[in-house]
Amino acid sequence: MSDTKRKIAVIGAGSIGTAFAIVFARAGYPVALYDPDDQRLQAALSEIAERLGYLTKEGLLDDDLAAIQTRVAVTSSMAQAISGAVHIQECAPELLDVKRELFAKIDALASADAVIASSSSAMPASQYTEALSGRARCLVAHPTNPPYLIPMIEIVPAPWTDADATQRTLALFRVANMSPVLVNKEVEGFLLNRLQGAVLREAYCLVRDGIASAEDIDTVMRDGLGMRWCWIGPFETVDLNTRGGIASHAIKMGPAYARMGKERGQNDPWTEDLVATVDGSRRKTLPLDQWSERVAWRDRALMALLRLRKSFAG
Ligand SMILES: NC(=O)c1ccc[n+]([C@@H]2O[C@H](COP(=O)([O-])OP(=O)(O)OC[C@H]3O[C@@H](n4cnc5c(N)ncnc54)[C@H](O)[C@@H]3O)[C@@H](O)[C@H]2O)c1
Repeated sequence: MSDTKRKIAVIGAGSIGTAFAIVFARAGYPVALYDPDDQRLQAALSEIAERLGYLTKEGLLDDDLAAIQTRVAVTSSMAQAISGAVHIQECAPELLDVKRELFAKIDALASADAVIASSSSAMPASQYTEALSGRARCLVAHPTNPPYLIPMIEIVPAPWTDADATQRTLALFRVANMSPVLVNKEVEGFLLNRLQGAVLREAYCLVRDGIASAEDIDTVMRDGLGMRWCWIGPFETVDLNTRGGIASHAIKMGPAYARMGKERGQNDPWTEDLVATVDGSRRKTLPLDQWSERVAWRDRALMALLRLRKSFAG
């Protein structure tokens, strides 16, 4: 691992902050983990040691456990944590006043070239950074819990965030072996919770209308949709399910999905232009002459998953 990586400050050592300390330290970054609660800091150190132990046991660490552990230093001084840091990951409670006060403090303490990212689940950066002189280096980097096990992270710039700060954050998380996605505009729920919300809204309706039990809805996801979705997304899923790809799927299934949407009071038809945009993206990733090969890959991936499910005792 490179010794030239600059320090990362993690502000707040709860569930998310502790997990981020592992993410960055595992990638070779020195990490300063701050929390106002000393007991929490000590507990965080034990949690980090325990989780690194499990990761080692599962063969999921490329580096020596002790080397990773020594990269994490805890401190109850925010100024000390932030001093010299190239990236500051704020992981404090989800309260607007807390974030507002904290961002003002961090902005005053951070190096001129540092990026300040909030882990906020629901509050876009524009709600607590507008008045800051350094607002152009502030954004949201929303992880999925726990980020040291689930790689996807949503990068959400505010309207005034510099493109350079956004690009540096995307690059940092790629180096840290995460899977960052860019949310072009601030929107409630970002991407993950909007997609989860769509599924949950329908799931609740189906239970309410007596169509199926809650248990059976979970089974549909666990033993049905989720099997493919742990390997490929919803667009690739239908692309591989239909000869001719997603454009052909939209012709065959579009009207039925439109009727289902209308039944729920939603009228967002898959217009020709919209389907052409998604189809264009799919065909760039997977030309149709490679379709059968990818279907065979998906099937092998499902076999690997079945093997894992069979062997995983919990
Ligand atoms: N838990 C999740 O599933 C999840 C997932 C994604 C994002 N998030 C977001 O991450 C952030 C942290 O959530 P969490 O679940 O780790 O919360 P948590 O309650 O586990 O931890 C919050 C930590 O912040 C500390 N803290 C309190 N006031 C502080 C301050 N002024 N400055 C710095 N630290 C302070 C607390 O002592 C605590 O250790 C929230 O914005 C949350 O919405 C949470």
